[in-house]
Amino acid sequence: MRLTVLGMGYLGITHAACMAELGHDVLGVEVDEDKLAKFAAGTLPIYEPGLEELYRKHIESGRLRVTASYEDAAEWGDVFFVAVGTPQKDGDFAADLRYVDAVIDSLVPLLRRDAVILGKSTVPVGTAHQLANRADELAKDVTVEVAWNPEFLREGSAVADTLRPDRLVVGVQPGGRAEAVAREVYAPLIAAGTPFLVTDPATAELVKVTANAFLATKISFINAVAEVCSAAGADVKAVANAVGLDARIGTAYLHPGLGFGGGCLPKDVRAFMARAGELGAADVLTFLREVDAINMGRRTRMVQLCREACGSLSGARVAVLGVAYKPDCDDVRDSPALNVAGQIQLQGATVTAYDPKAIENARNLFPTLRYADTAAEACEGADVVLVLTEWDEFLVLDPRDIGARVRRRAVIDGRMCLDKRQWTDAGWEYWI
Ligand code: UGA
Repeated sequence: MRLTVLGMGYLGITHAACMAELGHDVLGVEVDEDKLAKFAAGTLPIYEPGLEELYRKHIESGRLRVTASYEDAAEWGDVFFVAVGTPQKDGDFAADLRYVDAVIDSLVPLLRRDAVILGKSTVPVGTAHQLANRADELAKDVTVEVAWNPEFLREGSAVADTLRPDRLVVGVQPGGRAEAVAREVYAPLIAAGTPFLVTDPATAELVKVTANAFLATKISFINAVAEVCSAAGADVKAVANAVGLDARIGTAYLHPGLGFGGGCLPKDVRAFMARAGELGAADVLTFLREVDAINMGRRTRMVQLCREACGSLSGARVAVLGVAYKPDCDDVRDSPALNVAGQIQLQGATVTAYDPKAIENARNLFPTLRYADTAAEACEGADVVLVLTEWDEFLVLDPRDIGARVRRRAVIDGRMCLDKRQWTDAGWEYWI
């Protein structure tokens, strides 16, 4: 099939490369000049394990191309995937739908034959319906169907999540072609046993935001328990593990620490509350305010812990290991780690940060931090070492080696990922 992917960010690039892997001919559309320059040079504007290899494989196989032209896209494609961002609106909890709207406004007037648009971006419930009306107004003697096919991939495991998803969900209008088209697109995945769920568009939109809000709630729940454990002298990791062994609860998304960040969970929780308010159902989702507040409170608490560990932040030297919002990606959007590093620096400390992949992005957002080329270099002369993203390479750091570089052996395990015994045996004060 000839598939077009509109918007080549984390979601779009992964979807485009994976659809080429499934055997389709794919055209990616991107209008950002900087991203286009990277594509032209044969590289990707993001780091995602295994993605660049897959992308190159299909640029070479001829099954994947990238263009800036909506005209090319409209003429070439049969099926159009919307994969642009839906960030939080400035000064508001609601989602900013300007990029999704722009895709419909740019594409639909150019379509010269009937088309199916499958939305993948995370949108507030009701968006597909509004876009379908807009597409009807803009379409010139053609039928344009808008259906919603939410994406559940995680950064860091995006390729595997796309090629082996837990489920496929497609929200369609009755009587259209979208279900048949989606079945054809995903035929190899359906044949491999992936559940294929067909709903109406509003339900499909809500499946996605419900999933993200639930995951966020689970994380904030265990982080609230972590605060009680810390007050009571109990071990939150042992609590999470024991509770998670109950099959009804499960251990996933029950890792306590600095909380959730990134381009999805924080803004999706807020957009869900905002949309519920518009629908007159704000009261039932007020607990999500607590989920958000507990999450943001973890960052404040980490700054406070750092202050306690140093005595005073003013003049302190702080090493920050990890600035990405989670390991195996270079994304610093709403990164708890970078946010904490920034707050500590602004309160008078000198912060030297290191991350295996995210330094360039962090530098763009926070140019006033110092950035080191290795974890050991970041720790040079530090009064305290903060581990804020649980990259594998931090889990295997030798506390003796690092101990020889710091001014004081104090470590704060912001992701509860270190072997406490190893660090205390090497003479470190260990804080969580
Ligand atoms: C999340 C969802 O997991 C995906 O299903 C969804 O497709 C995606 O958002 C999206 O809407 O696009 P993602 O943000 O890539 O995926 O990453 P997650 O692995 O879910 O982690 C989110 C945040 O939660 C990270 O900051 C992570 O460190 C934190 N987290 C995760 C915890 O603090 N504790 C946990 O137990 C798990």
